[in-house]
Amino acid sequence: MITINEHYLKLQASYLFSDIAKRVAAFQESNPSKEIIKLGIGDVTKGLTPASIKAFHSAIDEMADDATFRGYGPEQGYEFLRQTIAGNDFQSRGADISADEIFVSDGAKCDTGNFQELFTQTTIIGLPDPVYPVYLDTNVMAGRSESFVDGRYQGIVYLEATKENGFVPSLPQEKVDLIYLCFPNNPTGSTISKSELKTWVDYAREHKALILFDAAYEAFITDDSLPKSIYEVEGAKEVAIEFRSFSKSAGFTGTRCAYTVVPKECTAYDSHGNKQLLHGLWNRRQSTKFNGVSYPVQRAAEAVYSQAGKVQCKELIDSYMNNARVICQTMDNLGYKYVGGKNSPYIWIDGRMDSWQFFDVLLKETGVVCTPGAGFGKCGNGYIRLSAFNSLENVTEAMTRLTGKLSPS
Ligand code: MLT
Repeated sequence: MITINEHYLKLQASYLFSDIAKRVAAFQESNPSKEIIKLGIGDVTKGLTPASIKAFHSAIDEMADDATFRGYGPEQGYEFLRQTIAGNDFQSRGADISADEIFVSDGAKCDTGNFQELFTQTTIIGLPDPVYPVYLDTNVMAGRSESFVDGRYQGIVYLEATKENGFVPSLPQEKVDLIYLCFPNNPTGSTISKSELKTWVDYAREHKALILFDAAYEAFITDDSLPKSIYEVEGAKEVAIEFRSFSKSAGFTGTRCAYTVVPKECTAYDSHGNKQLLHGLWNRRQSTKFNGVSYPVQRAAEAVYSQAGKVQCKELIDSYMNNARVICQTMDNLGYKYVGGKNSPYIWIDGRMDSWQFFDVLLKETGVVCTPGAGFGKCGNGYIRLSAFNSLENVTEAMTRLTGKLSPS
């Protein structure tokens, strides 16, 4: 008899963004003339930069010619991209990361979801609340939680991010082994200073824990004093894995390219308490289960770091950040309290009502889609997240509609 992994049965309904997409599709079907504006899922709307497109095209031409054709590539990514990433994203900021510590992949969602496979089922997970649902759901699937009671999985240590702590969770009081951090934060848009991040690195070193640091939104940091990488903090290389993505910084959500940094000295422990290097384990996992990102996509990603690519990506990011300013300005005018939007494309708004109710009100009365905060965890209830990923025209129209419907306070 084939039996299922019953941990899947503990999962709540469907994945957050699939659930929202279904609700929006149902609303559109019964209101076909309503023009919906999506500020829900953080999906980019602007085309790839000319630099990436040029590199993409010429790599496709190479694939059409037997003399330059490439078959299977290295599972870890081509050397040309790994070198470029290490030099530009880390060494240039004083973080000593080398090319062979970079693992190119097809997405930070997949990598943050897959990395937990390296650890035993009894690993205690420390997760912010609210949180990007992938971190939680993948650990539930792996059997690291008990049942769902009163909005939370038992067995998971929730690290609350609330207005009281500026949406930066405090260090855990209970023992945790694997800690997920994301800054600039999804969903709240909050940021962490280098000294605050150092307290987490020190904690991990002292407690033999590991940090999975999701830096998918680092390109949106405008405040130069904030760290872009956890490796800017001394001692992080032994206790932290970092995830990055080209999805939001270079418009690759549909093109798919990201990477994970696994420093060679980063360790976890075997059941005898002996140190084991994670670099070799992740390499083994990736070579077995992953066949690499396509050659043209890696060339398009490499072009992000060319002189023209850097200028063009900055224009993309600036345009989304201008949208974020428009959203923040509207919330200021309406008297709604929020965080984010300054070093992040997400604005986390205190909706002053149940967040799914707010989602319904916005959709039905204005045709604007947001993400209900409760979908990111219990502490998200009462909040909604607006994403700046859309055209200026659509964001401006959405804010006009909100201004007409939401009462100022
Ligand atoms: C989000 O809206 O939180 C993200 O777009 C989801 C993702 O990157 O998978």
